[in-house]
Amino acid sequence: MTEAEKTRIVTLSPLDEERFGIKSARATINTAADFPEVLEFCRAEGVVFLIARCPTGNSETVHLMEQNGFKLMDTLVYYDRDLTNTPLPPVPNNITVGTLRAGEEREVEKVAAKAFQNFVGHYHTDPRLDKRKADEVYSSWAMRCCASRKVAEVVIIAKYDGKIVGFYALKLTPDRVVEGVLAGVDPSAQGLKVGRALITGGLEWGLAAGAPGMSIATQLINTKMQRVLLNLRFEPVASFYTFHKWFDE
Ligand SMILES: CC(C)(COP(=O)(O)OP(=O)(O)OC[C@H]1O[C@@H](n2cnc3c(N)ncnc32)[C@H](O)[C@@H]1OP(=O)(O)O)[C@@H](O)C(=O)NCCC(=O)NCCS
Repeated sequence: MTEAEKTRIVTLSPLDEERFGIKSARATINTAADFPEVLEFCRAEGVVFLIARCPTGNSETVHLMEQNGFKLMDTLVYYDRDLTNTPLPPVPNNITVGTLRAGEEREVEKVAAKAFQNFVGHYHTDPRLDKRKADEVYSSWAMRCCASRKVAEVVIIAKYDGKIVGFYALKLTPDRVVEGVLAGVDPSAQGLKVGRALITGGLEWGLAAGAPGMSIATQLINTKMQRVLLNLRFEPVASFYTFHKWFDE
């Protein structure tokens, strides 16, 4: 993605198009004033499937989207944590964390495939999208995190009894805040504090990289992830709705 595309409120989404075989785009609609540009872009480009995010506090825009057939698919909650003034917790016993080593990519892909099976995200919530393909979004995303520094700066790996059971892909924002990209724990190891260990590993990595803080988004429905974040002294700071719009309906 070019710098110009990054700042645009709407862009085509080749990854979604390739996955689902439908002309796709993504947008962030911050205010009602953004709305005409997004619709015009989609019409001009022949977009059929649009994924649009909107701040939850902006009811005028939300109502406009509802009137225009946008359907609510999920709600994201953003959590931030300071890294400079709040001491880091220890990594839980029995779990080791480190960064991805060459040859471990396929294990990460397998963990992602299992962790995100029947996950409740915006892809799975849309009845028009194939559930198997929705599952595959996350395992292929995990592989891209392992393969490209443009997708993730680092992938934190958690091992339990020497076996890879979880991963957390992270990147740094332009102001060097650590941002969570994608996290998953093998279902057989969930509830054993692997999630806590992965995020703690991310905090340690961020501290070493000179980051002032860490920012993580999760689904409102993902109470497990939110419990882990609250226990690690993250605080909720923002929330966004995810809408889907099908232009062929
Ligand atoms: C979310 C996820 C990463 C958390 O990892 P984990 O290893 O299971 O997390 P932990 O064991 O460190 O902690 C789980 C917490 O959730 C709690 N929990 C367990 N089951 C729960 C449930 N059904 N509802 C709410 N909380 C639950 C645990 O009690 C624990 O909280 P505690 O520390 O207060 O006791 C993991 O469950 C996962 O991969 N889920 C599927 C993919 C996903 O959601 N990825 C993140 C997207 S943002």
